Amino acid sequence: MSKSAVVTGAGGFIGGHLVTYLRRHGYHVRGVDLKYPDFGHSDADEFVLADLRSFEDCREAVKGVDEVYNLAADMGGIGYISGAHASITFNNTMISAQMLKAAFDAKVERFLFSSSACVYPQHLQDVPSVIPLKEEDAFPAAPEEGYGLEKLYTEKLCQYFTEDYGFPTRSVRFHNVYGPLGTYDGGKEKAPAAICRKVARTPDGGTIDIWGDGQQTRSFMYVDDCVEGIYRIMQSDHYGPLNLGTDELVNISGLVDLVAEVAGKTIHKAFDTSKPQGVRGRNSDNNRLREVLGWEPGIHLREGLKPTYRWIEAQVREAQEQADAAPRQAAE
Ligand code: NAD
Ligand code: GDD
Repeated sequence: MSKSAVVTGAGGFIGGHLVTYLRRHGYHVRGVDLKYPDFGHSDADEFVLADLRSFEDCREAVKGVDEVYNLAADMGGIGYISGAHASITFNNTMISAQMLKAAFDAKVERFLFSSSACVYPQHLQDVPSVIPLKEEDAFPAAPEEGYGLEKLYTEKLCQYFTEDYGFPTRSVRFHNVYGPLGTYDGGKEKAPAAICRKVARTPDGGTIDIWGDGQQTRSFMYVDDCVEGIYRIMQSDHYGPLNLGTDELVNISGLVDLVAEVAGKTIHKAFDTSKPQGVRGRNSDNNRLREVLGWEPGIHLREGLKPTYRWIEAQVREAQEQADAAPRQAAE
C-alpha cells in the first residue's frame, strides 16, 4: 500500500515542490496551507485550507497520515524577517509547537520540522570568508532575532519529544533555497529571486540596486536538491538537526554577475548599504550530512539559476504585457 503524507506550507515555494516530489514517489499527499499556490496548481491529492495557528486545524491536518512534513511558516528574505519579529515569532511558535503535538497525538510514523541556517550564532558569521557552520555550532546560542530563535527552540522541542516519548522527529536546517515558483516580488523574496527580477526588468547595459556592499557571502541551494534532501533525511534514522545546503560560497556581487551571465546582459551595480543585510557570511558544513546520507546537494548555482531566471523573466514579461494591455482595454 502507498504511504501517505501531509505537507504543510503546500501553497508555498518548497512545500509546493515537495508535494510534486512525493506524488512522483508514489505517496498519497494532503497539502495544507492558508492559501492555494500563488503560481500554477498543486499536485496534491487533496488540498486543505487551514490556519495552523489553531490546534483544531492542526489536528484535522494530520488525521490518518503516515508522515508529516511541516513546512508552514511565516517566512521571507532578510528584509521581511528582520522587520516583523513579534508577528513572525508568535505565528511560527503557534504553528510549530501545535503541529508537533498534533502529529504526536495522532501517532504518525515520522515528523519533519523545517528549520533554518538562521539558528546559528551571529558572531560566527561576521566575516565574508566565514568558516562553514557545523551543527554543533548552534550552541552557545545567539540566533537570528525572532525567526531564528523560534527555529532553534522548536528544534529542541522536537529533540525532547524524541528523547522523552520515542517520537521520531527530524529537524532540517535549510540554507537559502531558490528556484522556479518562489516568491520573487512583494517584500518576502530572497536575494536570488530579487536579483533575477531586477535583472529581468532592466535593459542590457542598465543598473540595478543591490542591498549592502556586495561583499557579503552565502551558499544557495536549488529547490530540487532541497526536496530530495528532505525526503532522504525523513527516510534516514538520524533525528538530530542536520544542515541541508550547498557549500558553494559566493558573494552577492558574484551572484549578480552569474544572473547577468544567464540573462545575457551587461548589468551595473548600485550598492545601497542602508538596506537590510543580515549576517556578513554564511556557509554550510556538510560533513554530517554526508556521513548520514552519503549524499549532499550537488546542483551548482550557475546551473540552478538558468531555470530560475527563465521562470522569473517569464513572470515579469507576462506582468508587463498585462500592464500594457490594461490602458488599451480601458480606452476601448
Ligand atoms: P513560503 O513562504 O513560500 O511557504 C510557507 C507557506 O506557509 C506559505 O504558503 C504560507 O501561506 C504558509 N503558512 C504561513 N502561515 C500559515 C498558517 N498559519 N497556517 C497554514 N499555512 C501557513 O516559504 P518556503 O521558502 O517554501 O519555506 C518553507 C519552510 O522552509 C519554512 O518553514 C521556512 O521557514 C523554511 N526555510 C526556508 C528557507 C528558504 O530559503 N526558502 C530557508 C530556511 C528555512
Ligand atoms: N532579499 C534581498 N533582496 N536581499 C538582497 C538584495 C535584494 O534585492 N540585494 C542584496 N541582497 C543581500 C541581502 O542584503 C543579504 O545580505 C543577502 O543578499 C541575502 O539576503 P536574503 O536572501 O534575503 O536572506 P539571508 O540569506 O540573509 O537569509 C535567508 O536565508 C535563511 C536561510 O539561509 C532568509 O530567507 C531566512 O528566512 C532563511 O532562513
